[in-house]
Amino acid sequence: MPITINNQEDIKKMKVAGKLASEVLDFITPYIKPNITTEKIDKLCHDFMAKEQGTIPAPLNYAPPGHTPFPKSICTSVNNQICHGIPGKKILKKGDIVNIDITVIKDGYHGDTSRMFFVGEPSIQARRLCEVTYQSMWLGIRQVKAGAYLGDIGYAIQNHAESSSYSVVREFCGHGIGKVFHDEPQVLHYGASGEGLELEAGMIFTIEPMINAGKKEIKVLPDKWTVVTKDRSLSAQWEHTILVTDSGYEVLTVSDGTPEPFLD
Ligand code: MF3
Ligand code: CO
Ligand code: CO
Repeated sequence: MPITINNQEDIKKMKVAGKLASEVLDFITPYIKPNITTEKIDKLCHDFMAKEQGTIPAPLNYAPPGHTPFPKSICTSVNNQICHGIPGKKILKKGDIVNIDITVIKDGYHGDTSRMFFVGEPSIQARRLCEVTYQSMWLGIRQVKAGAYLGDIGYAIQNHAESSSYSVVREFCGHGIGKVFHDEPQVLHYGASGEGLELEAGMIFTIEPMINAGKKEIKVLPDKWTVVTKDRSLSAQWEHTILVTDSGYEVLTVSDGTPEPFLD
């Protein structure tokens, strides 16, 4: 299947969806404090999406082939959880780090973004992991331009993460996104410059590196969704939805609360 090239109408709708996804993260930010449960975070986000935004939470009942339906509206991945954490009874405590991953559907189009949050003050190591992961995402984003290659993105991310003595998760990647949640191409967060698909203006995909403080190996919990580090080390992830343009890129998942881009 060829990669979707979005027209102006698609792009307009993807900007709306992207902004709405980012606004869910803005909305939930003040609630991320010690003693809140991840299911309370899910409920607050679900109600905001359904009642305030009129968006559909894409994760709810999402069931790719071979998977049981995802039971909640958002993903909350705490500490050694890499991604796809299912909100539940877990109580956030001082020093935890948590990724909140939001995907909304508006007018048939998906917006997908995630950020890391500190619950109270993080350890120096946890803060550094979250910062290096953020920088890695941005170094990947900055490769995006018509005529560049997917491998340029992967290389930039892997090089920064591994230079910081962290590891890149291999089993999950960024993805084409639009009317389909997880579409082609797969956007690997490791690789070699100049390899893979050549980017064209109008492509839209996510960049969402998962970076481990320890080794890259993963394990899936018995809930069949939550992905954790095999060595129990901390893991971080950030995600944006990106449009390829002739001169570079446009980040679609932006709102008032979006953290400043990393520019070195
Ligand atoms: N939002 C995730 C991503 O970035 C996917 C979550 S799928 C779910 O691709 F089923 F776990 F919610
Ligand atoms: Co995604
Ligand atoms: Co996501």
